[in-house]
Amino acid sequence: MNAAVWLLLSVGLNFGSSEGEARPSIECYEENGPSIELLKEHEFVPSDISGLDAKIIERRGKCNFNITWSLGVDGSIIFLKASKICLQKEGSRSCIRCDYTERFQNQTMLSGEKWQFYYIGFPVDENNEYHIEVFNLPPPNPGLDPPKKHIKRFSPGCKDSVLKYCKTCIEKGSLWAPNITVCHKKSEVVVNFTASPFCSKYVIRLHEPDPSGDLYDHIVVTKGNDTRISEKILLTDQSNRTFKELIPRFPLCEGHCPRHAEHQELCTEEPTDVSTDFVGNYIIICCLLASLFLIVCMVAALLYYKRKYGAGRNWALSPLMQHIPATILVVYSQEVCFQHTVLAFAEFLHECCHSNVIIDAWQKLRIAEMGPVQWLATQKEIADKIIFLSENNANPACDSTCRTTVDSHSGNSECMFNFAFNLFCSDWKNQSSLHKYMVVSFSEKNPTNSLPSPLNICPKYVLMKDIDSFCRDLSQHKV
Ligand SMILES: *[C@@H]1O[C@H](CO)[C@@H](O)[C@H](O)[C@H]1NC(C)=O
Ligand SMILES: *[C@@H]1O[C@H](CO)[C@@H](O)[C@H](O)[C@H]1NC(C)=O
Ligand SMILES: *[C@@H]1O[C@H](CO)[C@@H](O)[C@H](O)[C@H]1NC(C)=O
Ligand SMILES: *[C@@H]1O[C@H](CO)[C@@H](O)[C@H](O)[C@H]1NC(C)=O
Ligand SMILES: *[C@@H]1O[C@H](CO)[C@@H](O)[C@H](O)[C@H]1NC(C)=O
Ligand SMILES: *[C@@H]1O[C@H](CO)[C@@H](O)[C@H](O)[C@H]1NC(C)=O
Repeated sequence: MNAAVWLLLSVGLNFGSSEGEARPSIECYEENGPSIELLKEHEFVPSDISGLDAKIIERRGKCNFNITWSLGVDGSIIFLKASKICLQKEGSRSCIRCDYTERFQNQTMLSGEKWQFYYIGFPVDENNEYHIEVFNLPPPNPGLDPPKKHIKRFSPGCKDSVLKYCKTCIEKGSLWAPNITVCHKKSEVVVNFTASPFCSKYVIRLHEPDPSGDLYDHIVVTKGNDTRISEKILLTDQSNRTFKELIPRFPLCEGHCPRHAEHQELCTEEPTDVSTDFVGNYIIICCLLASLFLIVCMVAALLYYKRKYGAGRNWALSPLMQHIPATILVVYSQEVCFQHTVLAFAEFLHECCHSNVIIDAWQKLRIAEMGPVQWLATQKEIADKIIFLSENNANPACDSTCRTTVDSHSGNSECMFNFAFNLFCSDWKNQSSLHKYMVVSFSEKNPTNSLPSPLNICPKYVLMKDIDSFCRDLSQHKV
């Protein structure tokens, strides 16, 4: 079956290639079965192979063995017809037969060196063990194993200076330089990196620097041919998470791709260093003094109005109050896709409504220390609003990414939802404490009926439809 289809893959005669020397060349083809010479007896046979070596070389993105063998210096060389090369990898064996195109006249090359040939064609993968053997034909005794030379080679990993240029390694990111820059800000981490054309999914891993070392994975899926990716990851006020590593998910290595931790701490939005600039310092101090003066004036004016019109009319304070960020506790059930819904919602609250967001998944350590009920009770005191997030099931786009992240969050969130529900439900009987609660869903089709019915008493908002009333009610938290 494996007839000589791909012969002459690569043949050569290298040493002493001075022009005009009459020399045999080789023709190589696949021969996995026994060679015809093994079946009959031969009166005269060539001696054994003299030397054997194999090196990994790369040509046009393909990595192959360059197998070199040399012939012994003796008279029997005139009987040599062919050499057979076999390579075994992980229990599978394939052989190539190289016929010498003419008989050898001389025992050595003109230069006096041994005859040497090489064959390039066996592909090499990273991290594998290879057994290579070569023997001459015809063999000494039919029925017996021909005397053969054998060598063993281990191929290195994709970091190797040769293998990193092979296609399979390139598609596992061997040449990919993500050039990561990270900007740690008070409430968010901005990670920029260069995407690889072979990988559309990445995990940005943050960690808590304290001994708990809590990890937090943020998944990025690139679209089209984005090259430079900029990802903003929102933090809660209590979190000190910092960038740990970028984990690519190349399809060829999936969970085992090399991770990239090296990065540059770089915040381009930050103003340039003005400490050396005397004029700059001077201007800043003046601005600070001016704004301090303004604040003093405003406070004085407010106090004056307050005294004049009485304490009952504190309307003058409300425009200021609206800018105090609301602290919002978000409670969600396990069915809600964490990555897509909860995080996106938290980001929205932070960006558009300037709110501090509390999510249980961000405070695992504190929950472990305080216990979930105590933690919830504390958050209830801190929070200005408590939002129950309703499941929006009809979102197949998120499902695959969701499943991978749900696992890491699932443990607590269902209990947390039930704890929160049981702990807070007594508030809903009381109109004065009811204003603290909100129910949010993202689709009109399925408005909130996935939540327990006592929650129906709380104000409901379907986003983005009710966005105006939602943001208005959110900012009216201090009465
Ligand atoms: C293969 O190995 C031989 C002997 O070492 C060398 O002369 C030849 O240049 C190599 N071929 C390639 C393509 O590297
Ligand atoms: C064999 O080698 C001799 C010298 O050692 C040379 O004169 C002769 O031409 C060679 N024959 C061939 C066929 O290369
Ligand atoms: C890496 O990114 C920095 C900042 O974006 C840029 O200045 C630098 O040229 C980049 N280096 C490479 C090798 O792309
Ligand atoms: C991505 O780039 C390739 C080649 O550069 C192009 O053929 C393809 O259309 C591009 N895809 C998108 C979504 O831009
Ligand atoms: C990260 O990307 C954003 C958006 O492209 C850009 O505004 C910011 O300057 C980048 N930061 C760094 C450090 O490259
Ligand atoms: C973050 O760091 C501050 C100061 O180092 C510390 O008081 C606070 O407890 C830390 N927060 C967490 C969640 O570890």
